[in-house]
Amino acid sequence: MKDPICEFKAVSKDYSVRHSFFASGSYRIKALDVVNLSVKEGEILGLVGESGCGKSTLAKIALGLEPPTSGQVFFSGYDIADFDKTRLQNFRRQAQMVFQDPFSSLNPKKTVFKILSEPLKIHRLCHKNHYKERVTRLLKEVGLDEQILSRYPHEFSGGQRQRIGLARALATTPKMIVADEPTSALDVSIQAQIINLLLDLQERHKLSFLFISHDLPVIQFVSHRVAVLYKGQLMELMPKNAFLQSPNHQIAKSPNSLIPQFLNSSIPQSSNHHHPYTSLLLSAVPVPDPKMGVEVKKKDHGLTYNYKNDRYQKGCAFAPRCSLATDRCSAERPFWTEVAKDHFIACHYIT
Ligand SMILES: Nc1ncnc2c1ncn2[C@@H]1O[C@H](COP(=O)(O)OP(=O)(O)OP(=O)(O)O)[C@@H](O)[C@H]1O
Ligand SMILES: [Mg+2]
Repeated sequence: MKDPICEFKAVSKDYSVRHSFFASGSYRIKALDVVNLSVKEGEILGLVGESGCGKSTLAKIALGLEPPTSGQVFFSGYDIADFDKTRLQNFRRQAQMVFQDPFSSLNPKKTVFKILSEPLKIHRLCHKNHYKERVTRLLKEVGLDEQILSRYPHEFSGGQRQRIGLARALATTPKMIVADEPTSALDVSIQAQIINLLLDLQERHKLSFLFISHDLPVIQFVSHRVAVLYKGQLMELMPKNAFLQSPNHQIAKSPNSLIPQFLNSSIPQSSNHHHPYTSLLLSAVPVPDPKMGVEVKKKDHGLTYNYKNDRYQKGCAFAPRCSLATDRCSAERPFWTEVAKDHFIACHYIT
């Protein structure tokens, strides 16, 4: 078992938000709610969840860009909150970020050479006489030519810009890269190129990745393990293959009569071996319909969503939307159950 490079221990994050522009007073948003998770050395941990569930918040906390409201984050075994200036600088070198929008993440006023030599300068990684050689090597790593050194970000395609973003992240020879939706701003064919490049770089440099996306097929393709986040709570953590396999766990008896209807519906085969929210996510993946060519069908499971105060209930965040839910689910937060090797589900009724 590999050691964790980045570990979240009971991490919560609250934001205070004003009621409205004109009214005074504020309310709190729980962006993360007691998250326990680790990214292991050399692994790609995929993090999925719908918009607003807290993925980017976790990314920012992993990189020390925002402090958690409670809980701790460890990097290579050390609490990042305890880092002094030197250790913090070292941490910033070893943990890098790749952003969703490759254009706004690159300074439009700087040439590629300037963008890529900046981290070398900030972290004093080599003498300035060697900048050109290092930058050229970085460009080669991401499949770009040294001819582009004097060009500006606006002169590139989205895919090329994302390659430059990756080269910048690699400049400091990091141990971990947090990639927050690195391909969602790109078209499908370029997405595939960037994903293959990421996998290639990960293999070559034995990098650890926290790979964030709401695109399940992409997550399934790149990740070694997948974590599913819903409204700040982790619902499920599984090895990549668990998306397709059928572990031998059972549905515990619940007084809720909707259970058979939900679980026996036309959700893909794997769904009843997942948290109900993961099942819902999986069922929303477009299914190619051979009769209709590339036409896709999305299944509707008739789940209703009651948004009212659901962020502040004590129990499972998914309870207001879940057809398995009982009063227990709203009152009591479920613990992780290991339903198969390295496959954890937080649900009272999936055991
Ligand atoms: N600085 C902030 N101030 C107040 N609320 C915030 C702040 N940052 C995030 N939030 C809130 O925290 C919640 C989680 O936001 P986050 O950006 O982590 O979601 P996400 O999962 O990355 O969504 P997306 O897939 O759309 O990028 C959201 O409700 C968001 O409005
Ligand atoms: Mg985000």
